[in-house]
Amino acid sequence: MDRIVIEGGKPLSGRIPISGAKNAALTLLPCALLTDEPLTLRNLPRLADIDGFGHLLTQLGVSITVEGVRRGEFGRVMTFRADNDAEPVAPYDIVRKMRASILVLGPLLARFGQATVSLPGGCAIGNRPIDLHLKAMQALGAEIELASGYVKATAPNGLTGGTISFPFVSVGATENALMAAALAKGTTVIENAAREPEITDLVQCLIAMGAEIEGMKTDTLTVHGKDRLHGATHAVMPDRIEAGSYACAAMITGGSLELVGAREDTMHAILAGIADAGGLIEFGKNSIKVTADKGIKPLSISTAPFPAFPTDMQAQFMSMLALASGTSLLTETIFENRYMHVPELARMGADIEVRGRAAVVRGVPGLVGAPVMATDLRASMSLILAGLAAKGTTEVNRIYHLDRGYERLEEKLSAVGATIARVGGEG
Ligand code: EPU
Repeated sequence: MDRIVIEGGKPLSGRIPISGAKNAALTLLPCALLTDEPLTLRNLPRLADIDGFGHLLTQLGVSITVEGVRRGEFGRVMTFRADNDAEPVAPYDIVRKMRASILVLGPLLARFGQATVSLPGGCAIGNRPIDLHLKAMQALGAEIELASGYVKATAPNGLTGGTISFPFVSVGATENALMAAALAKGTTVIENAAREPEITDLVQCLIAMGAEIEGMKTDTLTVHGKDRLHGATHAVMPDRIEAGSYACAAMITGGSLELVGAREDTMHAILAGIADAGGLIEFGKNSIKVTADKGIKPLSISTAPFPAFPTDMQAQFMSMLALASGTSLLTETIFENRYMHVPELARMGADIEVRGRAAVVRGVPGLVGAPVMATDLRASMSLILAGLAAKGTTEVNRIYHLDRGYERLEEKLSAVGATIARVGGEG
């Protein structure tokens, strides 16, 4: 198995291109199932999760064509066409590797009147049930049956608009509800909808496909269902979590990085955290520059749904705050088990104490390189960041997590002065 080896302690400086957002792409891909016309997605990141989702779509009868990358464009352009008959079944083997597979439930049910999707099971960051997804489908008239580890959803006469009121915010359940409602008969109101920028990207893609949706960027979305949707072309938004991760890289190494393509309107809470930690932020025409200035100040941050501070940045901020000039308090309110990086950071000299959902991070003057093991995607990135700042050599093992969510990581970091390489074999 490959690992990443970093010689730390060098300030990073230069420009880093920000890729298309993984979590936006993962909800745009299943939109292809909503029509028999082609859906073209631009700026798709080259990531294992995108390939995995593509594989699932081909199993569902979708044909895929990939265009060559154009000059000046980084992301891939792919066209998806769901005009072949296939069993609307998402098998266990694919779903267990990629939880986002559950996002085919709404589109399959809405278009074909039935869907069978494996239950995803637990994951490294928490239980992650799918009850809200299922309740949303039931609110649109679907019958749900759970058997042999699978959800079988049926709506022989199609879905019917209704009111979906979420008891708490779920990004994925909002996405499934939106896609299903776009082809339901009549009007659907989604209350307490997620407002993440990836949801806005999905709404914009659905509108380009002919959907009628009101309330974009608010927590109440009204969808007037259509008999059919048509093909469209849509560019995936830039990845705010990748951009935020590299902002932390600038801070933790005492450097300066220009995040090319990053979008400020999707990153307010992340940039506020960087500024409060002492970073200087400059906005360019199509970029955001983050420069470390006089060390890192401690912070008190709680994760919460957008527009608050994202759970997907908690681990990376923790690495940065491990080197702050005082004690920080991080509170994780979204996932119950998202501190798996703490013992690994401790092996590099960080002083962090977890108390239930809170973590007390006492800043230390420096970190020391060590062999470490990643447990999930963002935890892996926190270890890369710690390695970039640490004295000596850090080896990050189990890097398949990183390949799920950070495009060309070593290439991007090497280009701004990091000594980082991927080598074969577990350390
Ligand atoms: N939840 C339920 N029932 C449900 C759905 C969610 O109890 O039916 C709970 C979850 O267990 C969690 C909370 O609700 O405690 C919020 O989960 P949400 O549904 O919002 O998360 P998700 O859609 O499964 C997406 C991202 C995650 C990101 C979260 C929160 C994708 C593919 N994944 O997951 O991204 O952390 O929203 O913003 O969009 C990552 O990129 O590393 C990642 C984990």
